[in-house]
Amino acid sequence: MKSLLIKDAAQVVTPLGTFSRGKTMKNLKVINNGSVYIEGEKIKSVGSLKDIDRNITGNPKIVDARGKIVIPGFVDSHTHLVFAGTREEEFIMRLAGMSYQEISKKGGGILSTVKKTRTASKDELFEISKSYVDSAVKNGTTTLEIKSGYGLDAENESKILDVIADLNKECDIDIIPTFMGAHAVPSGRSKDQYVNEVIEMIGALADKAKFCDIFCEAGYFDIEDSRKILNEAGKHGLSLKMHADQFTNNNGIKLSVELAVTSVDHLETISNDEIRLLARSKVAAVLTPGVSYFLNYGYPPARKLIDSDCIVSIATDFNPGTCMSISMQMMISIACTQMNMMPDEAITAATLNGAYALGLTDRGSIEEGKLADLAVLNISSYKMLPYFFGINHVVSIIKNGEVIF
Ligand code: NIG
Ligand code: FE
Repeated sequence: MKSLLIKDAAQVVTPLGTFSRGKTMKNLKVINNGSVYIEGEKIKSVGSLKDIDRNITGNPKIVDARGKIVIPGFVDSHTHLVFAGTREEEFIMRLAGMSYQEISKKGGGILSTVKKTRTASKDELFEISKSYVDSAVKNGTTTLEIKSGYGLDAENESKILDVIADLNKECDIDIIPTFMGAHAVPSGRSKDQYVNEVIEMIGALADKAKFCDIFCEAGYFDIEDSRKILNEAGKHGLSLKMHADQFTNNNGIKLSVELAVTSVDHLETISNDEIRLLARSKVAAVLTPGVSYFLNYGYPPARKLIDSDCIVSIATDFNPGTCMSISMQMMISIACTQMNMMPDEAITAATLNGAYALGLTDRGSIEEGKLADLAVLNISSYKMLPYFFGINHVVSIIKNGEVIF
C-alpha cells in the first residue's frame, strides 16, 4: 500500500470529531513538531515523529514540513462556480452607489449570467470552471460544493450539473453537486409557472445532485415556494440546503429547522429568536464573509451565533455577482477581522464544520481513520493565517493521501 509521511511540521493543527458547535469551535489540537503518517487514502497516525514511528512500515514518500503548518484541507461548502462571463461592470456600478437589488432590476444580476451561461457549450463551461477549480486547489481547498442555478431551464440546468460531474471526474478534489434551479425566476415566466418547472426538473435531475438549494429571498422565492420545492426534493432523496436571511429577513430559519436541512446559508439579517432556534438544532449555519466584504452591506452576526452555540461554518459563495474570491484563506481573514471570529474558530469553520455542512463525516480533521486531505502552509503558526493576509500560503496539497500540488 502506498504511504506518505509528512514530517516535522512546526505545527499540526486540527479540530476534532465530526463537527463543533459554539464554544467548542475554538478547541483546536495543536501538535508542535508534529508529523502525519498516511496509508492509502487515510490518516494512520498523528503526533511527534517519535510517537508515530512504530506505525510506520515500508518506505513512505516524505514531505518535509519543517517551519510550516499542516491543517485539514479546506472544505468550501457553498459556491456557484459553473458560469460563463464575469460582471465587473456591475461591480463598478455598485462602487458608484447602486445596490445589488437595483442592478438586478435593471436586467443585471443573476439573469445576466444566465444569458451567457445558456449560450456557452458544455465544453466551454467546463474549461472556464476547471480554471476556477484549479485555483481553489492551489489555495488549499480539497472538497468543493458547486450549485447549478445559471441555467434556469431543464436543458441548461442539466448541462451545468453535467459539467459539475465532469469536474468531479477530471479534478483531483471531491466536488459535491447541488441542484439550485430555484436561484431566480427566468424572464418570460411568472414565479408560479417557474416553481412548477423547478418541481418537474427535480424529478428529471435528482440523480445528478446530492443537495437541493433555494434562494429564499424577497423578489426571488418566498417561504411557501421554498417549502414546496424542498419537500419535493426530499421525496426524490436529495438532502436540503437554503439561502436565507441574506438581504431581508423572511422566516427562512424557521423553515430550515422544521425541514432539518443540512445547512442554512448567509444569515446576514438573522434575528435573535432565530439564532436561538438554530442553536437548538443540528443545522449548520454557513456564513459567507466574502459576500459581505464584496457587496459592503454588513456582516452576519458570527459572534452571537457562536456564543449562542450554533454550528458555524464559513464558505466562499464563489460567484460572478457577489464574491469573485475562491480563497478560503481570505474568508478566514475576513471572518476574523470583520466578524470577530478567532483564528481557531475560523479554521474549524473552514474545515470540520464545512464538511459537516455537506453531510460529510469522513474528512475535515487530522485524525486516525479520516481521509488524508491536508494543506501544508508556509507559516509557522496557525495564528498567522488571518494575520498575514491577502497572499496564498499553500505550498502543498494532499488529497486522499496523494500529493496533488
Ligand atoms: O449566493 N444569493 C444568490 N446567489 C448568489 C448571487 C449570484 C449572483 O449574483 O450571480 C449569492 O450571493
Ligand atoms: Fe450563494
